[in-house]
Amino acid sequence: MSVAHLLITGGAGFIGSHTCLVLLEAGHSLVVLDNFANSSPESLRRVAELVGANAAARLQVVEGDIRCSTDLDRAFAAGSIEAVVHFAGLKAVGESVAEPLRYWDVNVAGSRCLLAAMVAHHCRTLVFSSSATLYGYPEQVPIQETAPIQPINPYGHTKAAVERMLQDVAASEAGWRIASLRYFNPVGAHPSGHIGEDPSGIPNNLFPFITQVAVGRRERLQVFGGDWPTPDGSGVRDYIHVMDLAEGHLAALQVLLNGGDQLLTLNLGSGRGHSVLEVIAAFQEASGRAIPHDVVARRAGDAAETVADPSLAAELLGWRTTRGLAEMCRDGWAWQQANPNGYAS
Ligand code: NAD
Ligand code: UD1
Repeated sequence: MSVAHLLITGGAGFIGSHTCLVLLEAGHSLVVLDNFANSSPESLRRVAELVGANAAARLQVVEGDIRCSTDLDRAFAAGSIEAVVHFAGLKAVGESVAEPLRYWDVNVAGSRCLLAAMVAHHCRTLVFSSSATLYGYPEQVPIQETAPIQPINPYGHTKAAVERMLQDVAASEAGWRIASLRYFNPVGAHPSGHIGEDPSGIPNNLFPFITQVAVGRRERLQVFGGDWPTPDGSGVRDYIHVMDLAEGHLAALQVLLNGGDQLLTLNLGSGRGHSVLEVIAAFQEASGRAIPHDVVARRAGDAAETVADPSLAAELLGWRTTRGLAEMCRDGWAWQQANPNGYAS
């Protein structure tokens, strides 16, 4: 495979840090642009440690904001960038309801600034972090990429808006190679336990809440709804190991860099659903810790079941997930146990 100079926005975050590791191991040279709004430089220091000195020499970090053209120019100047992987953004659904303008600013205006900088620096190859959240309440499961886009919260609307912007840009002139990757539920950690997910405050998502209960940072888990139309009554999701997701980015980049003009829109999921109660059981098994929990009322805005149809990504990228729920729990637990307070540990 050919190697390239890549700009990784938001590369210090949860998915970004794991993807940086996989891209460095594949031989690519990286400039990470991150303002550390929701991450710590420590994640990239650990990535450098994990890949070793030779590969780490191909990692540069620029502290800056995707909404600032000077910061973007500095990042592009740090290497002759051939493609961008764009993770930077805000992702908390509840926060997006309370502060919609901030979400439109960072996620949409920030992506617009990034695209303008790409044009100025003659770079037209982009992988964008989209989300299954834009399917809202899916009408059919498993969900295909052709399913209606019907977000139900401001966060989802910003992801849909950026996808729309990318379609318009791709149609405006020749030369664009773009992949919008719609992630399902990324969980787990690198198997070393050195890097992982480090949410600030009380986790909104199931998996980090479970790991924090297991390590003693939280007392009990609330299971949101026991009366969903699912086999055991709890909500069903398509959990994807973050290392599988990182490898999906490598595969997408490879296809874009080796191909002509294209605009790909792909689900990245496993195609398998697991209920909340199944995740709890698997985590208890992997960790040997009890996860005390109570079944409570449904959470507003939740769907009963979201599961990807991942066949298009398999066909176009030659990529599929290889790690199951037991590995997600094992690796997520290794990270949480070694870093009970995340990167601040
Ligand atoms: P994260 O918060 O861990 O990472 C995002 C990174 O972007 C952080 O390092 C943060 O500091 C940085 N950032 C935020 N605003 C910035 C700005 N203005 N300028 C520069 N950097 C900025 O989140 P993540 O889980 O790694 O998610 C990465 C991307 O994937 C996001 O765009 C998110 O919306 C998307 N996504 C995440 C999930 C998920 O469940 N984690 C699911 C679907 C899509
Ligand atoms: C949530 C967001 C979604 C976002 C995704 C990834 C909502 C409504 N949806 O998806 O937009 O793209 O995170 O960041 O916020 N659960 C519990 N107890 C908890 C937490 C969750 O039972 O404490 C259940 C949920 O009801 C759901 C499952 O666990 O059935 C997964 O929840 P979560 O991890 O928050 O992901 P999503 O709801 O799929």
